[in-house]
Amino acid sequence: MIKLIGLITLLLMSTFTSLNGATYKGQKIYMDTCKDCHGGGQAMAASKNMRTWGKIMDKKGEQLADIHLNSKKAQASWEYFTDKKFTKDSRHLEDFLIEYAKDSGNVPACN
Ligand code: HEC
Repeated sequence: MIKLIGLITLLLMSTFTSLNGATYKGQKIYMDTCKDCHGGGQAMAASKNMRTWGKIMDKKGEQLADIHLNSKKAQASWEYFTDKKFTKDSRHLEDFLIEYAKDSGNVPACN
C-alpha cells in the first residue's frame, strides 16, 4: 500500500514538472535570484503584460540586464546580470514572467 502511494505520488509529481517544466524552472530562478530585491514573483510577473515581458526579455534579457546595470541601487545584482548564468536563465525567466503576466489569465498554484 505504501509502495502504491509512493508510486502515485511520483507519477503525479513527474506529470506536474513536465507540464510546467520551463515555467517552474523560471520561477525557481526568480525565487533564488530576484526575490530578495523584488519580493514575490507572482506580483512581479503580473506587473506587466505579456508583450512588455517579451520585449524586456528579448535578446536573452538584454533590456532587463540594462535596467539593472544602469541603476546603482541594483549594484548587488550586477555580477549576476553580466554573468553567462543570466544568459542561460533568461529563457526560463521569460517563460515564467510571460506565463503569469497581467494579461495571461494564469495564477501560480504555489509561490
Ligand atoms: C540587488 C537587487 C536586485 C536584484 C537581485 C534584481 N533586481 Fe530588478 N531591480 C532592482 C532595482 C534597484 C531596480 C530599479 C532600477 C531603476 O529603475 O533605477 C530594478 C528594476 C527591475 C525591473 C524594472 C521595473 C519596472 O517597473 O520597469 C524589472 C522588470 C526587474 N528589476 C526584474 C528583475 C528580475 C526578473 C530579477 C532576477 C533575474 C531582478 N530584477 C533582480 C534591483 C534588483
